[in-house]
Amino acid sequence: MSPALTIDATVNHHHPLKAQSSKPELGFGTRAIHVGSEPNSETGAVIPPISLATTYKQEKIGVHKGFEYSRSGNPNRNAFETTLASVEAGGATALAFSSGSATTATLLQSLGPNAHILSVNDVYGGTFRYMTRVASQNQGLETTFLDLENADDNTILGSLQENTKLVWIETPTNPTLRVIDIQRIADLVHSHPSNPLVLVDNTFLSPFYSSPLLLGADIVMHSITKYINGHSDVVMGALILPPQHTELAERLRFYQNAIGAVPSPYDCWLAQRGLKTLHLRMKAHGVNALRVARALERSEFVEEVIYPGLTSHRRNEVAWKSLSPHARHLSYSNNDADGDIGFPYGGMISFRIKGGLEEAQRFLTSTQFFTLAESLGGVESLAEHPALMTHGSIPPKERALLGIGDNLVRLSVGVEDGDDLVRDVKRALEIAVRGE
Ligand SMILES: Cc1ncc(COP(=O)(O)O)c(C=O)c1O
Repeated sequence: MSPALTIDATVNHHHPLKAQSSKPELGFGTRAIHVGSEPNSETGAVIPPISLATTYKQEKIGVHKGFEYSRSGNPNRNAFETTLASVEAGGATALAFSSGSATTATLLQSLGPNAHILSVNDVYGGTFRYMTRVASQNQGLETTFLDLENADDNTILGSLQENTKLVWIETPTNPTLRVIDIQRIADLVHSHPSNPLVLVDNTFLSPFYSSPLLLGADIVMHSITKYINGHSDVVMGALILPPQHTELAERLRFYQNAIGAVPSPYDCWLAQRGLKTLHLRMKAHGVNALRVARALERSEFVEEVIYPGLTSHRRNEVAWKSLSPHARHLSYSNNDADGDIGFPYGGMISFRIKGGLEEAQRFLTSTQFFTLAESLGGVESLAEHPALMTHGSIPPKERALLGIGDNLVRLSVGVEDGDDLVRDVKRALEIAVRGE
């Protein structure tokens, strides 16, 4: 075992403030590359070795170098957790799980029996499914789903109960990219006697574009599967907690070990490698997405473009206000620039093509670089049809209420050359709508 990694593990688990204290001085990219990834002091290797051992030698009973059994902790998971806690601004402790869904399940199980949750209404489908079809039956967990973008203060406060333990926010929502004001919701619900924890699923924006802990959230969760790993080759999830929630973090670490939905060392190693370039990738995703969104906005074949970074987005100002401090300084070139063009805000775009299902389907099979596939956040561009794919299990009536029509297309804009992506989308639109 690498002594360097032993130190990493200590930073994360026993000295959260130490990990925290490196944040003000170091930039995002420096933390992503160096924190949790110091050169191996035995061999000099600049990249941590993959430690596949499931168990670790003890000199005497209970005397060891920080690791006993891999489910409870191992060098690669600890290293990844250390890096992640360092890049999620305001974070002190990170806990990794075997998927985003396992993260959700573990967290909700920690709430115990008969708790109440207030959740954003168009939460990720798997989260909705776990809340309504697993936790409700097994724990008596009750969830109120509310439009947290438009609900007024009284409606939000009125939906909290004595036993409300958690408020679940996801922003921007999927696939219609509605922007929730995290700070407003956190301030409001923390003023209620039930004082629930506020969790933000930060998967869509990643720690690069959004820092919910700085806006008053208590817990951030991620499907690491998406932007943080970034290469469509790992399924993983994580929670990050700030220093004031050390006790809660320890309790969740107990649940992480007790339930055991943990990632493999190899997946942690891959995810840490991905995380090292998160800042570079997110800039490229954002710049490309803004360019593609602008091209869609100008197309005669498009009814509506939804990208919160566009000035035409209803919640463009809230999106700007909620942007991570480091993402505000993002400089980018935009060949299409003509006046106020907006700003990069992640890589996800949704748009309504002129026509219906037929046109949408034709678009999705006509692109060259946007691969027709579920998921998002990888370096390669993807496109999908929410009504028939990711959100197909939602009854048509509810889908219509959520604005998920047959002509809605979702894009995960990758980091290929922006010119190629714009050309690809324009060409596919022409084929799809004009039939050429
Ligand atoms: C916003 C969001 N949260 C959670 C999840 C679940 O993550 P995983 O697929 O890693 O279980 C997803 C997956 O698509 C997601 O998009």
